[in-house]
Amino acid sequence: MTEEKLMELAVSMMERAYVPYSHFPVGAALECSDGTVFTGCNVENAAYGACICAERTAVVKAVSEGHRDFVRIAVAGGSDDFCYPCGTCRQVLYEFAPDMDVICRNKAGKTHKLPLRELLPHGFGGSHLG
Ligand code: THU
Repeated sequence: MTEEKLMELAVSMMERAYVPYSHFPVGAALECSDGTVFTGCNVENAAYGACICAERTAVVKAVSEGHRDFVRIAVAGGSDDFCYPCGTCRQVLYEFAPDMDVICRNKAGKTHKLPLRELLPHGFGGSHLG
């Protein structure tokens, strides 16, 4: 799939976001090494700590369907700056695919692609546990 198409899927997922509190929809599209794509949106909760980001929705969908080998993720948000994954999502992505790429999109449709390792330098992984 082209990067543009992957991002289109992420943008379309913004419509599915459940965001009654922040009113900030985010969409994600996660591509696996075999080409399978899992999408996600943010799902908020009245107990704010229970909110789930779009990226983690996509990861949980993928892993629960037997996919862990992620190549890249497209993330679309509605702000002027690029919608970079939050710290928790960076850590969750790093668990499965530290060498994956992250493509972020802003409201104007511009994108910024960078390695996850740049977003989470010296990340903590399973190998640290011995
Ligand atoms: N959010 C995401 O879904 N992904 C990000 O990369 C940044 C933040 C969500 C969480 C919450 O529902 C809303 O955006 C505002 O923080």
